[in-house]
Amino acid sequence: MSNDKLVEVKNLCVDYVTFDGKVRAVNSVDFHIGRGETLGLAGESGCGKSTIAFALMRLHRPPALISEGEVLFEGQDVLKMDEEELRSFRWKDASMVFQSAMNCLNPVKTIEYQFWDIFDAHNMVSSREESIEKAKELLQIVDIPAERLFDYPHQFSGGMRQRVVIAMALALKPKLLVMDEPTTALDVVVQREILQKVYELKQQFGFSILFITHDLSLMVEFCDRIGIMYSGQLVELAPSKEILSEPMHPYAKGLGDSFPTLKGELQEMKGIPGNPLDLRNVPDGCRFVSRCFHASDICHRQSPQLAKSGDNRWVSCHRPLEIPSKMVDDVEVKLSVVEA
Ligand SMILES: Nc1ncnc2c1ncn2[C@@H]1O[C@H](COP(=O)(O)OP(=O)(O)O)[C@@H](O)[C@H]1O
Ligand SMILES: [Mg+2]
Repeated sequence: MSNDKLVEVKNLCVDYVTFDGKVRAVNSVDFHIGRGETLGLAGESGCGKSTIAFALMRLHRPPALISEGEVLFEGQDVLKMDEEELRSFRWKDASMVFQSAMNCLNPVKTIEYQFWDIFDAHNMVSSREESIEKAKELLQIVDIPAERLFDYPHQFSGGMRQRVVIAMALALKPKLLVMDEPTTALDVVVQREILQKVYELKQQFGFSILFITHDLSLMVEFCDRIGIMYSGQLVELAPSKEILSEPMHPYAKGLGDSFPTLKGELQEMKGIPGNPLDLRNVPDGCRFVSRCFHASDICHRQSPQLAKSGDNRWVSCHRPLEIPSKMVDDVEVKLSVVEA
């Protein structure tokens, strides 16, 4: 494995075993996350994003079952780790913040106690005083005054609680932060402030991020590359600005057209006709075929494979779209919003 890859997900297949039989929610997904990279996963609700995040952290629970594949973290397969290795992997190597994480704080314990719990469980401090010192530093990096450490979760607003959770996720200086819809429950201003903070912390500490959201415009500002998922499969993976300005997969184009642009002329937003696929009834050919404006005969017969297409992009489509070059400038303006 080359050193610039922190995580390599290979042929990951996750099934939900239900009374009706097995449903494959993640089907043969491959991607890597570079060191210091922010990789986004986008796609309609139910396409398998959270299932991937939980499998990657090995936090999945029945009825979810990982049927095939590998999740290599610095070359070691997370799916084969024993309990001891997993304990160290979670928090120290990788930690996760999810949408409702702010509600997972223990309501009857102070924030101070909850930091202590993490440090103590991982033998990271030799005294309670040291834990308090470290916890105060962490609160400050997410812009919460140190003296608030002794407060209870209910004394914080939702946005602050989510920042506390992010501070906790960063407590053991992990190399990977997985964020699954981390700000979806918050209003847009708070959402942006939190992501801006995470972006700054990433610049400071150099960790990698797997960022999951259904908000493509937020993702384009925040991520280096974006993977677009459809119905349990990765259909396109490319640098952020390219995926929005030059989508190759018809679904990626449809998703891009469903979001307003920040700059440029006002355009009518278009949705994607049709409904997401019922995973219990998957067609022989491409999973997107019934909604695709660009499909031809082969798409009904043969399932496409994710294949390299250009320097740093992958697409799973028999008939990828031609790349128009005109819109690239538009997207560069968007990216600079975060960098400013
Ligand atoms: N506990 C469960 N039992 C059965 N099916 C599930 C369960 N959780 C998720 N699924 C199915 O797996 C698919 C992917 O879900 P999920 O990973 O949560 O999608 P996303 O995060 O992209 O919205 C969906 O079709 C969903 O219905
Ligand atoms: Mg989800």
